[in-house]
Amino acid sequence: MVRLANPRPALTRTRVVSLINPTTGLPLREAVDGLVDPAGHLFPTIAGVPRICEVENYTQSFGMQWNKFQATQLDRRDIGLDLSEQRFFRVTGWSPAAMADQDVLEVGSGAGRFTKVVLDHTRARLWSVDYSNAVEANQRNNGAIAPDRLRLFQASIYEMPFPDGSFDKVFCLGVLQHTPDFAASVRALVAKARPGGEIVVDFYPIRGWWTKLNAKYLLRPLTKRMSHERLLGLIDRNIDWLMATFRWLVRWHLGALTRFLPIADLRLILPKALSPEQAREWAVLDTFDMFSPEYDNPQRVARVAEMVRASGARVTFAGYIDAAGAPAAVVRAIKQ
Ligand SMILES: C[S@@+](CC[C@H](N)C(=O)[O-])C[C@H]1O[C@@H](n2cnc3c(N)ncnc32)[C@H](O)[C@@H]1O
Repeated sequence: MVRLANPRPALTRTRVVSLINPTTGLPLREAVDGLVDPAGHLFPTIAGVPRICEVENYTQSFGMQWNKFQATQLDRRDIGLDLSEQRFFRVTGWSPAAMADQDVLEVGSGAGRFTKVVLDHTRARLWSVDYSNAVEANQRNNGAIAPDRLRLFQASIYEMPFPDGSFDKVFCLGVLQHTPDFAASVRALVAKARPGGEIVVDFYPIRGWWTKLNAKYLLRPLTKRMSHERLLGLIDRNIDWLMATFRWLVRWHLGALTRFLPIADLRLILPKALSPEQAREWAVLDTFDMFSPEYDNPQRVARVAEMVRASGARVTFAGYIDAAGAPAAVVRAIKQ
């Protein structure tokens, strides 16, 4: 017997996004312990977030990383750090005015750096999912900013608790390469946009034959099999000499060789506003992020544009955008 809860404060809305059991399509209602469908299937709410999937899955490395480095990449006004804000608005091409009162879906939110941007800078209602327990970090980071405009779920891109055609805008930044089936992920995103709705993705690109001639792709077969704690410890113990060597190579115009160093590309990842300690933490996080995920499947931009078209959307942009100092591979589209 499932007890129904008093409904939580309704999202301010002009259109209604309903919640469904993604397997059966049955509607979901709020219960004391989670979300329940008429057949009695309960999706439990844990740490304030409904879980629409098994809690443990292939994204555990991300759960660990985002809970450990919960605030590392969040924008911070006190030190002038606005990288996520810059990247979000440049990559999407959206404006706060265009997003006001819209239903926006974020897929793969991690610790919520872009969740925060949407809540802080727009009046959109945000529906946000991630497959890992990073949703707990996101809830801690952003749950109190605008509770009437945020609904967060632990759910996979392939089984989201919304009917198709629900959203005015859908965005998915830095996620698709980490899913097992890139094309199926694109289809899942396009499916959730309403006709006329916009979809924006950014992802790791294949730029040429040399893309995978890189310490990341050479070592990942080993590193992704290591225990996450061991890998993180290894990175933490070695990050100082790796950062020093990386900078030495760049200073002596040998930047091309940095691809063989087992460290994230400091030229692309590090915002200028960071102190040396913050830069170190950021480098550890992004190096762990490059070696630990189960999947890392970069794609050619033209191929992703084809996937989007094949999913029933008109591509309005496919190429590279300067996302605050680093080029992002971006596809934007409108659902037909
Ligand atoms: C590199 S992180 C990016 C997080 C965030 N977008 C950011 O840029 O900070 C990739 C995220 O994708 C999530 N992810 C991977 N596979 C997923 C799936 N099938 N469904 C939803 N999220 C997924 C991971 O859990 C992880 O949090």
